[in-house]
Amino acid sequence: MTMHRHPIQTSTPALTRFSRLERTQGGVGSAVLFLPVVDSTNRRLAEMAREPMLSGTVLVADHQTAGRGKGDRPWISRPGTGLILSVLLRPARPVEELAQVTLVTAVAVADAIAAASGLRAEIKWPNDLMVGGRKLCGILCEMVLTPEGELDHIIAGIGINVQKSDDDFPAFLQGIATSIETETGKHVHRYDLLGHLIDSLEARMTEWEREGFEPARQAWSAQSCTLGREIVLTTAGAPLRGIATALEADGTLTLRDAQGQSHNVVFGEISSPPEITTHGAFPRTAPAKEENESK
Ligand code: BTN
Repeated sequence: MTMHRHPIQTSTPALTRFSRLERTQGGVGSAVLFLPVVDSTNRRLAEMAREPMLSGTVLVADHQTAGRGKGDRPWISRPGTGLILSVLLRPARPVEELAQVTLVTAVAVADAIAAASGLRAEIKWPNDLMVGGRKLCGILCEMVLTPEGELDHIIAGIGINVQKSDDDFPAFLQGIATSIETETGKHVHRYDLLGHLIDSLEARMTEWEREGFEPARQAWSAQSCTLGREIVLTTAGAPLRGIATALEADGTLTLRDAQGQSHNVVFGEISSPPEITTHGAFPRTAPAKEENESK
């Protein structure tokens, strides 16, 4: 079995200004902050977390002017149509297991969407939520380590398309992104969904801390639209093509190539086939007009 790894987006602060004891622990939603407009909830919460901050703090914005997506791409949504937030997490798991946080978060978001709207989203590896091949939600987890290599915090950023109709998406996204309202025909209040999300994140993070990854692994696998499919993965090395066969107990994805060789992947991005490409995280080459329209 070949291992393909590249690091989770991490950074190490030059100066740790407060000790571990001062970094108080709280459940998800122990503090909830709202901002009408922010450049990026992930960036702003990371800046705030340089001072002592309760873990579980949630920063919600009505609108982002420079939302960040995976792979350094922008994340664009029209004001008032999405649930846009970031959560500060300090899960009590060993550092080598922390990459699992993106998968646990995806399961928690799927739980919340189901509870708020009845909609069962599928999970595209590692953590995009999809309905009928269209992207409903993107998740960006960014981890900060101490100079000693311990976890300082994780910022889990979540963008859910809630109230969009197809016309709300820029032209180049129509048909490849979707929303809860489009899929269910029901009005879902963003802050009702937020309540469910706080509950499900707290429940899944607590379950992960107490029981390990297995419950989330099973839930992820049951909702996956990646397992059993032929995919092309862009990893740190050359692209890999094969059938996604399993999400393993350690959170890695196993891919079996045409030669029958198994590859174990920690990070990467599914680049094709087209029906499961990434939607909603826009390439930097997106037309300027459409980018401006959404601001
Ligand atoms: C993806 O590329 O699929 C991840 C998108 C993540 C977007 C969310 S919106 C809230 C949070 N703040 C950001 O700047 N990005 C994340």
